[in-house]
Amino acid sequence: MQTKVTIVGSGNVGATTAHWIAAKELADVVLVDIIEGVPQGKGLDLLQAMPVEKRDARIVGTQDYAQTANSDIAILTAGVPRKPGMSRDDLLNINYNIMKDVVGKVVQYSPNCILIVVANPLDAMAQTAYKLSGFPRERVIGMAGILDSARFRAFIAMELNVSVENINAFVLGGHGDTMVPLPRYSTVAGIPVTELIEKDKLDKIVQRTRDGGAEIVKYLKSGSAYYAPSAAVAEMVEAIFKDKKKILPCAAYLQGEYGVHGLFVGVPVKLGAKGIEQIIEIKLTPEEQAAFNKSAAAVKELVTVINV
Ligand SMILES: NC(=O)c1ccc[n+]([C@@H]2O[C@H](COP(=O)([O-])OP(=O)(O)OC[C@H]3O[C@@H](n4cnc5c(N)ncnc54)[C@H](O)[C@@H]3O)[C@@H](O)[C@H]2O)c1
Repeated sequence: MQTKVTIVGSGNVGATTAHWIAAKELADVVLVDIIEGVPQGKGLDLLQAMPVEKRDARIVGTQDYAQTANSDIAILTAGVPRKPGMSRDDLLNINYNIMKDVVGKVVQYSPNCILIVVANPLDAMAQTAYKLSGFPRERVIGMAGILDSARFRAFIAMELNVSVENINAFVLGGHGDTMVPLPRYSTVAGIPVTELIEKDKLDKIVQRTRDGGAEIVKYLKSGSAYYAPSAAVAEMVEAIFKDKKKILPCAAYLQGEYGVHGLFVGVPVKLGAKGIEQIIEIKLTPEEQAAFNKSAAAVKELVTVINV
């Protein structure tokens, strides 16, 4: 194929992202992981699914970044999950060091690629990738808002017993406990959701959305969600390769938008061939803006710890 995607980190999110990308025939995929054999094995397995699926995507796995050369998009999922006894700052420092290791290598071989950051803590890792890559902000995008919005949409569809296709929803802010679901901008076939679901129920859905990641971690016991996160990444890849100019909530480096300077926070962006082609500023009520500011402050705290 003419398009090439590198996925760094071939664990649950990385490998499943490769699956969606290959199944949609969006690009050839290079899987990278620090564990020898894992990207090779998963890559070969996925490649062998292609004749069944009648897709011509080529998938390889490697430890050698030379094979990632000239990728159009690089997806950064390498990281460790939080383990018992590990503080948030411990995790932040470990994943920061992993990000430092991988960004340099990716950029060396694919200086013109678009970086999609997935590793957590998301906004701080996106900021790390942005600062270390030296890329313009258009080419460094964090994935979180699409996932958080998809969870919100799924819960709204369940509540109303309607097709998920009818539902549009926005979740802004940092990816974490302070995320800002926006019921006012969420609609069902164009009808504001606030007119269809009473406030009490909607508040519960909003809270379940905020806790969406934790709910799955609790079920899985080890590891975290990966089907929906990887589907969200694939939507970004598709919007970029097909130059769709799709408006999606993503983490972007703000330079004054929403009153935030020099920080990655989730906002609606227009995604096309050049990456982030526009940051869309929507009007927030004072309450929503306050929640957004609180969320940005939480991101600021993290990036101060790692000094990026
Ligand atoms: N942004 C989001 O909304 C979102 C959603 C889900 C998961 N995540 C995050 O994505 C990351 C990956 O999640 P996962 O479930 O795939 O975890 P995972 O443990 O299944 O996979 C992570 C992989 O990264 C690899 N890795 C570690 N250090 C590396 C390095 N230096 N170079 C290359 N590979 C390296 C590991 O060997 C492992 O295979 C985590 O940080 C997780 O918290 C983010």
